[in-house]
Amino acid sequence: MSAQVPNLPQHVAIIMDGNGRWAKNRGLPRIEGHRRGVETVRTTTYAARDLGVRMLTLYAFSIENWKRPQEEVGALMSLLEYYLKKELQTFVRDHVRLRTIGRTEELPAGVQEVLRSTIEATKHFTDYTLVLALNYGSRTEVVDAARAYAAAVAAGKEKLNDGSWATFSRYLQTADMPDPDLVIRTSGETRISNFLLLQAAYAEFVFAPVLWPDFTKADLAAAIAEYNRRERRFGLTSEQLLSPAKAAAK
Ligand code: IPE
Ligand code: IPE
Ligand code: MG
Repeated sequence: MSAQVPNLPQHVAIIMDGNGRWAKNRGLPRIEGHRRGVETVRTTTYAARDLGVRMLTLYAFSIENWKRPQEEVGALMSLLEYYLKKELQTFVRDHVRLRTIGRTEELPAGVQEVLRSTIEATKHFTDYTLVLALNYGSRTEVVDAARAYAAAVAAGKEKLNDGSWATFSRYLQTADMPDPDLVIRTSGETRISNFLLLQAAYAEFVFAPVLWPDFTKADLAAAIAEYNRRERRFGLTSEQLLSPAKAAAK
């Protein structure tokens, strides 16, 4: 039961990495790794929910990924469309709310269409949300937000002097999402690759050596257990965390 876990991360975000290496290790084309990776997306969506997570964000395609060979990008887009078409009914049946972050308006029309219909069909579900980061890049998101914020100031909707993180963050794509508590990256790489740079300001990071197609519910549970061993201090001292009155008195 999730309620028995003291510090369950509400929002887990995953940098799904290692599909290419998984395929290469087997002498298969990279796209085979992506195909297997989609299976892991499916199992992880349900594993996270079973473990009591409320929101799962999966980094599926970065802005920088367009620079990969055209053949691989095309195959990834086809795979994405196929996956979404297949999952729509399952999400509706299982009450999984789908949403996205990233410049989805630049994705192929077929992908946009199935995204639109799935988001629409699942928008009333509140228990569990799957967020796909598609054509996402943190720096682009910040630039877009800064532009929208500046326009709002120019239009008199925001006062520059009142500017705060609480105000500015409303212009990010993640405006109505909680910050990730736990960020996991698979494949052993220990970098963030332009993913939720600001939102992960106080997230805990777990770098798992397993390649994404091999990532299991047990690996997710292990990452959550590791998260539970950490002390999130948010700038305070350990002593203050034990006695919140002292922190409040400051
Ligand atoms: C992650 O796997 C999937 C995407 C970035 C779309 P990779 O394709 O990056 O796999 P590696 O890093 O080459 O092994
Ligand atoms: C990050 O993986 C992007 C996604 C998982 C979608 P990459 O494989 O693209 O990252 P780098 O290039 O190794 O940093
Ligand atoms: Mg990679």
